[in-house]
Amino acid sequence: MAVPASSLRTALLVLLSLGLTLALGLLLPEALRLLFSLLGFPCDNASHAIVLVYFVFMLFVAMPSLPRGTVPTQGKVVLITGCDSGFGLALAKHLHNLGFTVFAGCLLKDKNGEGAQELQSLHCDRMKVLQLNVCSEEEVTQAVEFVTKNLEDPGLWGLVNNAGISTFGEVEFTSLDTYKEIAEVNLWGTIRVTKAFLPLVRQSKGRVVCMASMLGRMGCPSRSSYCVSKYGVEAFSDCLRQEMYKWRVKVITIEPGNFIAATGIFTKEGVEKRGQEMWEQTSETIRNDYGKVYFSHQVARMKAFVSSGVKNMSPVINVLADALTSKYPYTRYNPMDTYCWIKVQVMSHLPAAIADRIYI
Ligand SMILES: NC(=O)c1ccc[n+]([C@@H]2O[C@H](COP(=O)([O-])OP(=O)(O)OC[C@H]3O[C@@H](n4cnc5c(N)ncnc54)[C@H](OP(=O)(O)O)[C@@H]3O)[C@@H](O)[C@H]2O)c1
Repeated sequence: MAVPASSLRTALLVLLSLGLTLALGLLLPEALRLLFSLLGFPCDNASHAIVLVYFVFMLFVAMPSLPRGTVPTQGKVVLITGCDSGFGLALAKHLHNLGFTVFAGCLLKDKNGEGAQELQSLHCDRMKVLQLNVCSEEEVTQAVEFVTKNLEDPGLWGLVNNAGISTFGEVEFTSLDTYKEIAEVNLWGTIRVTKAFLPLVRQSKGRVVCMASMLGRMGCPSRSSYCVSKYGVEAFSDCLRQEMYKWRVKVITIEPGNFIAATGIFTKEGVEKRGQEMWEQTSETIRNDYGKVYFSHQVARMKAFVSSGVKNMSPVINVLADALTSKYPYTRYNPMDTYCWIKVQVMSHLPAAIADRIYI
């Protein structure tokens, strides 16, 4: 009988953690004992405690997650924004397959966008596609009316704030309008939609899921407009989570790593076009100071970045589904590859001066 890859991976990680624990367990106590005796402190307990904490940490990282139970999906209703493509489209189909009734908000439903058409072609009562631009007060109000009218039981189980856009460009090349444009969708769109649908979510003691990003937890050169918006989403979700405990509504933040190659958030043509616009719109002083060679190099790097990252969306789709189906969902999910995971840990836990030297 073949051993599943996940069990093999877990076994290897546990072995690695034991090996490291033993190696450090032998060396670290000696080093600490020496240090503590030089400083004149009693040392035995301190070194044992450190090894124990380290061992527990490694097991925590290596162990598969404990079963947390699932909630029934039949009769549960979820609204997702940004279902024209990428994570939103894939999630709408996945939740529908799991038995949810899905309200799929599409930016281009009224323009016969491909994503909206694909979802409508399912011809199923549990898949309802609606026009929803998260930046439009009017469309959000109409969406609330549409959902309320079509609910069989009062209450919305889940709201997934997925709609988002991104761009690139160093601060000195990024106009204030660009900062506003990105925040208008990612941050104000999330807040607008959440405020509008919260009464329905509170009725069913449901869940609000906000799509942030690893760039909501760490800065990154050339991505300040996106980072600003996603740091905002993190702040909003954290405050809302604390306020919603009393209503038994769970607020969950998703922080994906790099899945750029898997979704439509960046295209090479889009990067090229944006690069040209930025160069043309920026001031003479900035152009002279940075120079065209430097700027073109940045654009080329971004174009190469478009085909980078995890090419399969399923890690993100699986955690989004877990956030909506688990009895005890996590507060934060970090679907990402090991490289991004280590980078986020280093960037968010080490002193900034050291972390910057490692990665920038
Ligand atoms: N891909 C990644 O590596 C990654 C990493 C971390 C976080 N995220 C986040 O994941 C979410 C989904 O992004 P994705 O990667 O799946 O990109 P995507 O394929 O471009 O999906 C984003 C969707 O949002 C829609 N949208 C844009 N503006 C909107 C508006 N004003 N109202 C409603 N919908 C709007 C887009 O429609 P159009 O296609 O018509 O523009 C698109 O369907 C975003 O919040 C993004 O920031 C992505």
